[in-house]
Amino acid sequence: MPDDLQLQIVRNVLEKLKGTPGALLQILHDIQQGVGYIPDAAVPEIAHALNLSLAEVRGVITFYHDFRTTPPARHTLRLCHAESCQSRGAGQLAAQLRERLNLDDHGTSPDGQVSLRPVYCLGACACSPALELDGRLHARVDATKLDELLNRCLEDRSC
Ligand code: FES
Repeated sequence: MPDDLQLQIVRNVLEKLKGTPGALLQILHDIQQGVGYIPDAAVPEIAHALNLSLAEVRGVITFYHDFRTTPPARHTLRLCHAESCQSRGAGQLAAQLRERLNLDDHGTSPDGQVSLRPVYCLGACACSPALELDGRLHARVDATKLDELLNRCLEDRSC
């Protein structure tokens, strides 16, 4: 997306929400939804509109793991690390992901194909272990199923 279009999206969001008390989180969510991430150029625009310092805005962005400051990977895989999934093998699946992709639990592959994001309960505890891939829930995931999903992502098929 061109920089000027990103900036237009940022300004539209700010125009809509800047008068709303406590709007910073909503503004960040809306910018991320519109642009795909929060570009660095948005930070001074947000700070100016809300009369905050740059450090305050950056502090909020970095505090919440759901905010991205770089373009998203083509595929986002969120493995559940909460109790039910842990008791049904999520730890082994996490190790499989780390080894296969050579990433940590928050990493993005260098080719921009896959990002890993841990999540703590997807509401599918009865079907643990569970993960979400590009917004789609996959339950009762085992090593074979995880390999199949990764193969599709890495071969750039729909997951
Ligand atoms: S604990 Fe994993 S879906 Fe609830």
